[in-house]
Amino acid sequence: MIKNKTFLAGLALSALFAGQAAAADKLTLYCSAQEDWCQVMATGFEEATGIKVSMTRKSSGETFAQIKAEASNPKGDVWWGGTGDPHLQAAEEGLTEPYESGMRGELNGWAISQAESAGNKTIGIYSGALGYGYNEDILKANNLPVPACWKDLLKPEYKGHVQMANPNSSGTAYTTLATIVQLFGEDEGFEFMKGLHKNINQYTKSGSAPIKAAARGENTIGIVFMHDAVKQAVSGFPIKVVAPCEGTGYEIGSMSIIKDGRNPESAKKFYDWALSADVQSRALEVKAFQVPSNQGAKTSPKAPDLASIKLIDYDFKTYGSSDERKRLLKKWDDEVKSLPQ
Ligand code: G6P
Repeated sequence: MIKNKTFLAGLALSALFAGQAAAADKLTLYCSAQEDWCQVMATGFEEATGIKVSMTRKSSGETFAQIKAEASNPKGDVWWGGTGDPHLQAAEEGLTEPYESGMRGELNGWAISQAESAGNKTIGIYSGALGYGYNEDILKANNLPVPACWKDLLKPEYKGHVQMANPNSSGTAYTTLATIVQLFGEDEGFEFMKGLHKNINQYTKSGSAPIKAAARGENTIGIVFMHDAVKQAVSGFPIKVVAPCEGTGYEIGSMSIIKDGRNPESAKKFYDWALSADVQSRALEVKAFQVPSNQGAKTSPKAPDLASIKLIDYDFKTYGSSDERKRLLKKWDDEVKSLPQ
């Protein structure tokens, strides 16, 4: 009898350890880069470590909202990719954990600055400049002028020809809003957004959707990160890429560990792995032409050359702060989105 009890207790104990071991071998990844790159990261990590990855792709603003909604019972472990502003907001709101990876010595200065400005609760994994792309065939077929500047997009002949994402869900579109405000000042910037609204055919959920629609011939001009437009052009679609003449903003695509996630050890392993040169070089397999944060990672000659683009000194501290992001999004909802077209 006693023997049996001991045996049962032993069974229960080993079941418990098995449960723990299984938990340590999982990772829930929230991904806000392109779906195909997210897949490469999830399967690549599984192959490298044997840790089972459950991955979901959602846009940057949507992922931020999800992590916030789950804060009392976090379900995700790592948030990889997406624009840096909502990662900074998550850090400020205490939704993510500080971590200092041993890989930091291999990274570009901008990736480390991103970490330092957020108490090491996030880090830069790539960067890329904002701009737009257009479908050359549709432009010609409609006898439309070739755009070169932000302000060109306000021309009445582009009515119904321009698409961008909704800045609430999309980091790309929030970067657009913050860029326009920084370029033209807040009052003129909002006048610009109102004028643009008249030409917008649809606000999409995901940031890169407008250029994918242009590639398919369902839209003319898509406001996106330039690397997303280059991806369509090198894939054989009639897409031309524009670096707006007034200058433009950029993103520091980021990664953060979610606070009180269920698999903290797997999260750190993924974080270190994702910062390595070999892993970042794999972006090229899916034509993701961002600038990688690891100095040793491969880049492509097809990637937009940030040194030749007129970049503004994007103020990540201000536009990634919780108060400012909330304020600008509310103002855009109230004063722009609600207007008739
Ligand atoms: C695309 C870009 C990324 C960017 C992301 C943001 O995937 O390639 O560089 O970080 O968009 O996505 P979102 O849907 O939030 O605009």
